[in-house]
Amino acid sequence: MSYPPRAPFPATRLRRVRAHDWSRRLVRECSLSVDDLIWPLFVFDGHGTEAIKSLPGVSRLGTDHIVDAARRAVDLGIPAIALFPATDPKLKSDDAAEAINENNLVCRVTREIKRAVGDQLGVILDVALDPYSSHGQDGLVRDGRVVNDETIAVLLQQAIVQARAGCDVIAPSDMMDGRIGVIRGALDEADFGDVQIMSYAAKYASAFYGPFRDAVGSAANLGAADKKTYQQSPSQSDEAIHEVALDLAEGADSVMVKPGMPYLDIVARVKQTFGVPTFAYQVSGEYAMIRGAVDAGWLSGDAVIMESLLAFKRAGADGVLTYFAPDAARLLGR
Ligand code: PBG
Repeated sequence: MSYPPRAPFPATRLRRVRAHDWSRRLVRECSLSVDDLIWPLFVFDGHGTEAIKSLPGVSRLGTDHIVDAARRAVDLGIPAIALFPATDPKLKSDDAAEAINENNLVCRVTREIKRAVGDQLGVILDVALDPYSSHGQDGLVRDGRVVNDETIAVLLQQAIVQARAGCDVIAPSDMMDGRIGVIRGALDEADFGDVQIMSYAAKYASAFYGPFRDAVGSAANLGAADKKTYQQSPSQSDEAIHEVALDLAEGADSVMVKPGMPYLDIVARVKQTFGVPTFAYQVSGEYAMIRGAVDAGWLSGDAVIMESLLAFKRAGADGVLTYFAPDAARLLGR
């Protein structure tokens, strides 16, 4: 042995800590837990289950299946579900009146779920008109335009009927300006001060929502129209920060970035800038891409699901809405 020792080459070998499983575990910077998962579920007013062609492996659940799914979420340790109704086309209208019917599908189902599982599971409901509107837009349409303030007047009633049904978290996904403050005020006034608001704060006009629109049956209503006058352009990053700042100032408890994987830069910026509970939605098109490639045998399922979800955590998300929630929970070993 020479003394003094020769300068090693290279001085630092990062492979040293990667050499053993125990060591890789010890230096791990982030990890995924079942506590990070929110499971989106589609419900229809009928019995049994219906396959969704563009979402292989995900079904619309009938009212006789949805409570079992909620119980399954509890058993798996998943903290919350997000419910989306596939509304009977006969109940859709220009003014989306079914959205504020306190006996609509999603309200009935929420009551049943809460009766069955109580506080063991959080129930999150979207606030937006697209499941109920004959034009498939998230807001009211006047002279071909989605109108902001009139829409909010309906959204706040939707929030109230959903809160009355027992929903724990109101998740406005409509992207109207100023709706968080109005909904917060309306909830407080109606004695729902404990109901949280998870704002879809940075929501992009994305082509990745296609399978979701098939699932809730709004694709046909929307036709060739788009949502670019209220959802953000994929070219925007600073604007997402502005959106989040406004929603927080208006009283949002947590914020969401959507879609997920193509927008991890936004997730990271939002978390770093505000340090508030930040969620990401791995949307239907992202799920379909992964599931499709796995089903074709091109990707290895379990590994790719877990890697895609861990990436959200690394970017700074506190949790992920994902159609893979039950798969991930199973893989996480509960
Ligand atoms: C409705 C809503 C959409 C999604 C969640 N809430 C679709 C849209 O904005 O057109 C998409 C979720 C997904 O694609 O998984 N406002």
